[in-house]
Amino acid sequence: MKHITIFASGNGTNAENITRFFATGYLARVDVVLCNNATAKVVERMRPYKVPVRIFSKEDWERGTEIIKDLKSLRTDLVVLAGFTGYVVKKIIDAYPGRIINIHPALLPKHGGKGMYGDHVHQAVLDAGETESGVTIHYVTEEVDGGSIIRQEKCPVMPDDTVETLAKRVHALEYKIYPRVIQQVLMRLPDLPDYDYSNQSY
Ligand code: GAR
Repeated sequence: MKHITIFASGNGTNAENITRFFATGYLARVDVVLCNNATAKVVERMRPYKVPVRIFSKEDWERGTEIIKDLKSLRTDLVVLAGFTGYVVKKIIDAYPGRIINIHPALLPKHGGKGMYGDHVHQAVLDAGETESGVTIHYVTEEVDGGSIIRQEKCPVMPDDTVETLAKRVHALEYKIYPRVIQQVLMRLPDLPDYDYSNQSY
């Protein structure tokens, strides 16, 4: 059984969808959601699934040490960003090479980078007069939204779209493809080395 940790900051509909997807199989489980916003809806949303949501302070995220300790003790195979608005510090990226993935609600490299999340992305797509948008799933590197792309899926942008209607279409695509891509990535991942419980230097 593989272990997934989700990083989320907001509504958490992707976190819920991924949790539900893996709850019925034997490949993997979502063990925990790590969150940087105590009032995020994801906290409430995960309750029925009995998946704990741990809130970390800005300082914890910037230091990275506590987060890495948590990931190691959970034996996390894959870190899945699902509507996470923070940036992942180098220390965490270095500790989990090729094991952190993100979903972005547009066709990267367009409409990505710092400050581009959620509705800001859809607004940018509409402002640019795009006729198509979609979803990008990619590995997380130090460059925001810059890691190599695992999968991209397109959807049309309608002439009368608003941020709300476009977000709904893109979200539907996310629910359809993100769990399956996570499944494929997990199946390719080698097992983790044994955890050294005596090592306090994480
Ligand atoms: C999702 O559309 C996700 O792609 C996006 O935030 C939304 C979160 O929704 N992520 C980004 O914009 C990252 N740059 P959710 O909280 O309901 O899953």
